[in-house]
Amino acid sequence: MDAEHLPDSILIVDFGSQVTQLIARRVREAGVYSEIAPFSLAEEAFARLRPKGIILSGSPAGVPEEGSPRAPEVLFEAGLPILGICYGQQVMSHQLGGKVEAGTDGEWDGEFGRAYLTVTKDCTLFDGLWQVGERHQVWMSHGDKVTRFAPGFEIVATSDGAPFAVIADEERKFYGTQFHPEVVHTPDGGKLIANFVHHVCGLAGDWTMAAYRETKVREIREQVGTGRVICGLSGGVDSSVAAILIHEAIGEQLTCVFVDHGLLRLNEREQVETMFRDHYNIPLVVVDAEERFMAGLAGETDPEKKRKFIGKTFIDVFEEEANKIGGADFLAQGTLYPDVIESVSFTGGPSVTIKSHHNVGGLPERMNMKLVEPLRELFKDEVRALGRELGLPEIFVGRHPFPGPGLAIRIPGEVTKDRCDILRKADAIYLDEIRKAGLYDAIWQAFAVLLPVKTVGVMGDYRTYDSVCGLRAVTSTDGMTADVYPFPAEFLTQCATRIVNEVKGINRVVYDYTSKPPGTIEWE
Ligand code: XMP
Repeated sequence: MDAEHLPDSILIVDFGSQVTQLIARRVREAGVYSEIAPFSLAEEAFARLRPKGIILSGSPAGVPEEGSPRAPEVLFEAGLPILGICYGQQVMSHQLGGKVEAGTDGEWDGEFGRAYLTVTKDCTLFDGLWQVGERHQVWMSHGDKVTRFAPGFEIVATSDGAPFAVIADEERKFYGTQFHPEVVHTPDGGKLIANFVHHVCGLAGDWTMAAYRETKVREIREQVGTGRVICGLSGGVDSSVAAILIHEAIGEQLTCVFVDHGLLRLNEREQVETMFRDHYNIPLVVVDAEERFMAGLAGETDPEKKRKFIGKTFIDVFEEEANKIGGADFLAQGTLYPDVIESVSFTGGPSVTIKSHHNVGGLPERMNMKLVEPLRELFKDEVRALGRELGLPEIFVGRHPFPGPGLAIRIPGEVTKDRCDILRKADAIYLDEIRKAGLYDAIWQAFAVLLPVKTVGVMGDYRTYDSVCGLRAVTSTDGMTADVYPFPAEFLTQCATRIVNEVKGINRVVYDYTSKPPGTIEWE
């Protein structure tokens, strides 16, 4: 980005904490643009972004451990305000001449979870928020602690486990908190971070989604130049927002491909076609690949084999279509921040595969394409805000997530077109009832499942022998953990009655009461 267009920003240096993304969120909620850079690339990001303040994140590592990460020295020499959080406080103390000791020494074995601190001195971070002598709830998660702070600092708040709960060097505008202000369990945390960006860094807080849109459009133009971009649409909000943003930046250089694998929800394909062709006039290739997918799924009942087949076939179809239009230089994806965080994890070894998630990974190397991922810094609700900014209809913007393998993983056992049709109808009735009850936006994801189980029923004077339909609805913030949505009994009764009466092939409805963990959101 050229210098005159640089927004006022905060650089967040990531040492691999699980919650670094939340710092970015809090800064943006305060109306200030921020970017996260892994500590190893922080110097480069600092030079490029020219931030007005720096935040150092937490980390699974410990400062006393050999080889643990450090912040680039230039950050301390830049004359800019710095806020160090947890490990960030410790690494700053260490690098500026203080001392950090490991948690395993002596009696001390760390401070985890809810804690209370006492404010001992006024500090700009506490402006309009905390007074001397008050006690406040914060969230701690640390084994090591600072035992001697660096020259220039003083203690402004203490807790039982961390005498240096907050330290400050008002002259240099360096601050350190042993607790995590970015998590919701520190009730005033968002305001503390807002004080840092507004009062300490002096930023106005006038950054908006409209500004983000402008910035990204400019960046996409710079990255793509005159190249061609291809984007796989899933019908979900992420890929739709990415495509519309990219189209705004480069127009006809973008082609979107939508693979209809026959595993979509009711009317999904028509909705995507209408929106892209009629509403936005974006070139769209729709591939009808239902038969190919159904043929490959015939006889297959193993969940992983179903997933692998769908993932692979999706890539094959996508590649064939890309070749038909003469290939592309870039592949656009709607990757979000939570998808990225795992890949920058500081310790991050391979984790156990619970399910093979379907994506278009593998394609860029195979087809020699570079990636365009304009949503990499955003969270789901921010993508929705950007979607609204771009004029996407509400029905699209607020959509529940839908997995790439679609209905195939909601039909345990063999997937056939008939069973997909039955499930589509039941699912549409369930969602219709949810919308009518005004509950759609309170739920992270709701869907019907068609079980490979037949039960006996009675309708009128007749015996029925048909399939069981499961209903699922969960609340979640990121899909990683989930709670069951507690519908009133009458609501579920109404859904069951309608589904059994209106969908031929289903004669019994059950509700899934399993949280994640131990369940997963999808059934396969
Ligand atoms: P699970 O079932 O693992 O799902 O608890 C967590 C979230 O991920 C979605 N999901 C997928 N999304 N491709 C996707 O794009 C997939 O293969 C896939 N599998 C699950 C799921 O719908 C939920 O939101």
